[in-house]
Amino acid sequence: MNEAVPAAPSSVELMAKQGCEKLGLESFDALVRRARTCRRFDESMRVPREFLLELAELAHLAPCGANAQRLRFHVVSDAEECSSLFEKLTWAGALKDWSGPVEGERPTGYIAILAERPAPGKPAAPITEADAGIAAQTMMLAARSATPEVAACMFKAFPPRAIDVMGLDGDKYEVKLIMVFGVPAETQVIDAIDSNPDGSINYWRDEAQVHHVPKRPLADVLV
Ligand SMILES: Cc1cc2nc3c(=O)[nH]c(=O)nc-3n(C[C@H](O)[C@H](O)[C@H](O)COP(=O)(O)O)c2cc1C
Repeated sequence: MNEAVPAAPSSVELMAKQGCEKLGLESFDALVRRARTCRRFDESMRVPREFLLELAELAHLAPCGANAQRLRFHVVSDAEECSSLFEKLTWAGALKDWSGPVEGERPTGYIAILAERPAPGKPAAPITEADAGIAAQTMMLAARSATPEVAACMFKAFPPRAIDVMGLDGDKYEVKLIMVFGVPAETQVIDAIDSNPDGSINYWRDEAQVHHVPKRPLADVLV
């Protein structure tokens, strides 16, 4: 067979894979695939504060609307402060029989993504929400690319006054997202969109406690 002529791809997914190989994207592709949300960590291995500060350094270089740089970052690494912030988070709404990681499996570092509230009478800039997402994924990928790997979960489910336990001024700042970090103590896999035994597209855990994340095939999201 003539190796210069690749076999005809049989699906959009295969075409994407071949494109990755051709463009040398394989290692980034692998990073994105394994950078799943993680909710159980090895609490005996604390993420160093310097590591969290490096993540904030990368996040503050991320693209942002009009280069306005409205985001602020608050790093929490002290064990006592971590546990105060832990109490404010709502974990995995789709896992009905699980209320969050037990002691020993909790995150060991937190980064809150904040934005300064607009001046009285001035409208908020909705693009800041997009900025926060880009900063969050930058940190998620950076953490997973470390050796040993550090995993993360992004949180939008927390009360507005979560800012109080961080000792920050809630009149000055609004918390956009809270990210938690730790050395992963669970396995996550991307699975077929119809893999959840309950028929939903919710993430789910199997009997071995592996966390499954159903994702739609590429062909279904190309419009
Ligand atoms: C903006 C945003 C907010 C999220 N908020 C929460 C949250 O409050 N609690 C939680 O347990 N997971 C939260 N997640 C994690 C999602 O549940 C997770 O991304 C989703 O199940 C897909 O899994 P994956 O990240 O492994 O692809 C959030 C994710 C994003 C992107």
